[in-house]
Amino acid sequence: MGKMDGKVALITGGARGQGRSHAIRLAEEGADIVVTDICEQIEGVHYPLATKEELDETVALVEKLGRRCLGYQADARSGDQMREVTDAAVAELGRLDTVAINHGIGLPHGTDADSLSIWDTVIDTNLSAVWRTAVAAIPHLRNSGGGSIIVTGSAASLVGLYNNAAYTTAKHGLIGLVKCLAADLSQDGIRANAVLPTNVNTKLFVNDYNLSRFCPNKENPTIDDMRFTAQSLNLLPIPWVEPEVISHAVLYLASDDAKYVTGIALPVDAGMTIQPPGIGPFLGARLGELEYQLKEAREARG
Ligand SMILES: NC(=O)c1ccc[n+]([C@@H]2O[C@H](COP(=O)([O-])OP(=O)(O)OC[C@H]3O[C@@H](n4cnc5c(N)ncnc54)[C@H](O)[C@@H]3O)[C@@H](O)[C@H]2O)c1
Repeated sequence: MGKMDGKVALITGGARGQGRSHAIRLAEEGADIVVTDICEQIEGVHYPLATKEELDETVALVEKLGRRCLGYQADARSGDQMREVTDAAVAELGRLDTVAINHGIGLPHGTDADSLSIWDTVIDTNLSAVWRTAVAAIPHLRNSGGGSIIVTGSAASLVGLYNNAAYTTAKHGLIGLVKCLAADLSQDGIRANAVLPTNVNTKLFVNDYNLSRFCPNKENPTIDDMRFTAQSLNLLPIPWVEPEVISHAVLYLASDDAKYVTGIALPVDAGMTIQPPGIGPFLGARLGELEYQLKEAREARG
């Protein structure tokens, strides 16, 4: 027996990355799946967003598990589009029990005038669109007699990131949003929680733009060149996690295992958000090594 038998789950940003992984994990546990994704570029985003082919591939991967799966191209920033696809999916699959609002963009910026439009784009996509998706889904969750809303925040829901004021603000805002949804929907048996990932090996994190930010002095950097800096952000000795790691948390929050869990923000962050201040053991060891090499070089020079 699966933990999601008889349930229907809708996942935004489901064409690839964490969203695809959530779709597969929930389907493995018996859920029928609805995946939505914008499948086109948002102006200003420095890396390619998902394609329709990737969305179709997610649908095929879920169907291979013997579950039903509907894929819709829809921009989560549009309340109308989200209502249309949610209504259509429920008309087809009969109910809705879980909504994983996972879509998002990463768009670093500074404090200059260019940041004004970036701010609007990021807040609209990573915060307001989450609200619009929830509003589209809530009547269907009520009709099912309850359900679970799971919002993907970030370690940046709890700590500030350099050059990411809009992303950090949107992701902090999601924590307030799930607390209010949890309160307002509690009498309908609808739970609302957030999952907060550390770095995840997806295109939002591993893309040419981030490679050059993480490795400014390296020509043609690869993912391996990001390892050291990425690892220094986590307490546990890993630079990033694979999407499946986040899907375990999403499954927990979707299933009856978390029947009485609501209004929480669950970090799956390898300790990123509780790093004690100062230089930790990982960076400390590397600095110690460099210091020793420097001393030897000085002595050799006389
Ligand atoms: N990758 C990381 O390091 C990391 C870390 C913490 C949190 N997150 C969060 O995880 C979530 C999933 O991202 P990912 O890592 O799988 O990256 P990803 O880029 O692979 O997936 C994000 C998906 O969202 C879709 N999308 C973007 N804007 C959309 C919109 N307006 N409407 C519908 N779909 C839209 C994209 O097309 C893409 O398929 C995001 O909310 C992101 O902020 C990612």
